[in-house]
Amino acid sequence: MNRYSEAFEELRREQEGLKASQHRSRLWNDLELQYHIPTRSQTLSLDLKQSIPNEFLSSPLEVEIGPGKGEFMARRAARFTDRFFIGIDRRSDRVKSTQNKLGRQAIDNWVILREDACSFDPNSLPPIDVLHFYQPDPWPKFRHHKHRFFRSPEASAFAHAVKRGGEFRLSTDHLGYFLEMLDLIKTWEIFDLVTLYEKNWAMSEPMTHFEGFFMKKKETVFKAIFRRR
Ligand SMILES: C[S@@+](CC[C@H](N)C(=O)[O-])C[C@H]1O[C@@H](n2cnc3c(N)ncnc32)[C@H](O)[C@@H]1O
Repeated sequence: MNRYSEAFEELRREQEGLKASQHRSRLWNDLELQYHIPTRSQTLSLDLKQSIPNEFLSSPLEVEIGPGKGEFMARRAARFTDRFFIGIDRRSDRVKSTQNKLGRQAIDNWVILREDACSFDPNSLPPIDVLHFYQPDPWPKFRHHKHRFFRSPEASAFAHAVKRGGEFRLSTDHLGYFLEMLDLIKTWEIFDLVTLYEKNWAMSEPMTHFEGFFMKKKETVFKAIFRRR
C-alpha cells in the first residue's frame, strides 16, 4: 500500500466509529468526518470584527490561524503595511513569541489574539482577503482525529468568510489531514484550486517555523492555494 492509499484507508476505517453526539461533515464522496465540539465553542461567541482598529476597517484583511512562533506573520505584515493582520493562537507562549517579533518592527497593522479559533461567532466574521492555515496540529492518532480544527463548523465559517477573489492558503506535513482538507474544500464548492504541490527540503527556504522543522528532517510539506469563486 502506498502512502496515499494508506491515508484513504484510514479515512474509510474512521466511518466505522462515528458517534451520533458529534458534529459531522458529510463529504462530496458521502464519507463523514466526525468532530468533537469543544466546550469553548459552545460557550463563547466572540466577535472577530471587534479586533480591527477603526483606521484599518476598510483595509484588506489577512487572518492567520495558528501563527505559532510568528515569523511568517511578522514578515508579511512588514511587507504589506496597507493591510491589517490578525493572528489567532490558543497558546500563550506562541502568542508572546509572535508579539515580540511583530513588536520589534515599526508597524501597527496587526493584532495577535490568544484564543482558540473555535471561540469566534461564525456568523459575524469579517470579510477576509487572505486566510492562512499552516501546519495545523494534525492529531495524528486515529482516536484523536475528531479534534482536528479543520473539521469544525468554525473552520468552515472562516473559509466561507474569504471574499470573492480572495485566497485561502494552507499547508501540512500530514498527508491524511491534507487529503481530508482537500475533500472538505471540494465539498464546499466555493474555491478554485490555484496551486497544489509537495515541497521538499531542497526547493526553497521554509516559510514558517514548523515548515523549517520538517525540511530539516528532509520530510515533505503539502501545500495548496485556493481562490474564492
Ligand atoms: C504546529 S503549530 C504551527 C505553527 C505555525 N503555523 C508554523 O507553521 O510554524 C500549530 C499552532 O496552531 C495553534 N493552534 C492549534 N489549534 C488551534 C486553534 N483551534 N485555535 C487557535 N490556534 C490553534 C497551536 O497553538 C500552534 O501554535
